[in-house]
Amino acid sequence: MSKLIVANWKMNGSISQIKNDLLAYSNSVLTNAENVVLAVPSVYLYLASEIKMKSGANYKLAAQDVSIFQHNGAYTGEINASMLKELGVEYIIVGHSERRTLLNERDNLLLSKLENVLSSGLIPIFCIGEEKITRDNGDYHEFLTNQLKVLEKLKNPLKELVIAYEPIWSIGTGVVPTLEQISEVLKLIHAFVQNYLTHAKITLLYGGSVSGKNSKEILGHGDVDGVLVGGASLKVDDFSKICAY
Ligand code: PGA
Repeated sequence: MSKLIVANWKMNGSISQIKNDLLAYSNSVLTNAENVVLAVPSVYLYLASEIKMKSGANYKLAAQDVSIFQHNGAYTGEINASMLKELGVEYIIVGHSERRTLLNERDNLLLSKLENVLSSGLIPIFCIGEEKITRDNGDYHEFLTNQLKVLEKLKNPLKELVIAYEPIWSIGTGVVPTLEQISEVLKLIHAFVQNYLTHAKITLLYGGSVSGKNSKEILGHGDVDGVLVGGASLKVDDFSKICAY
């Protein structure tokens, strides 16, 4: 089974970079693949969608965030899932630690975002992950389970969900957990979601300092269904190496 490779560009890029990189991705057999998902900043999604359509590319598009408000209305600055769907977006990241920490996003808000994504028939990429201190204290099982509990409150039926384990101490630091540490958490997530598994497709990703150097080993592990890549996804060569798995 092919593994899911998600690029999270975060707040990076420019019109010319999007044009260059997406054309390069469209022309490469490594990146022009259905298991490759590109989360570009929302302001560039229209352009990305046009480039993808014109080049007939197979990669998928993702948004990095979505509004808590489902229906169009007086919500200044907000973008809902149906607007993103119209742009050809298929996945939406929810609960990234940067938004949890820097923008104070809490469970109730994340629940509304997940409902918004699901009600439009899109696929959430739900991120969880602990800080270094939580891991060192040995409290990370409880912490991660609490982050997963928001899924129990979903009202929309769950057909497909991607969950990314992204330890905060690994994001952008170059520090990568051991394969045993990754596998232990993915097993915990698997046990948590097993009630859904009969009727939903659940894909488990690892994210945090994934690069062309370590991706083969990480993707080679049986518990890992794919990776969520930040920094290394901004360099076409590095990202292509990851996709070459
Ligand atoms: P990183 O980011 O690959 O730069 O560590 C991963 C992420 O935040 O999704």
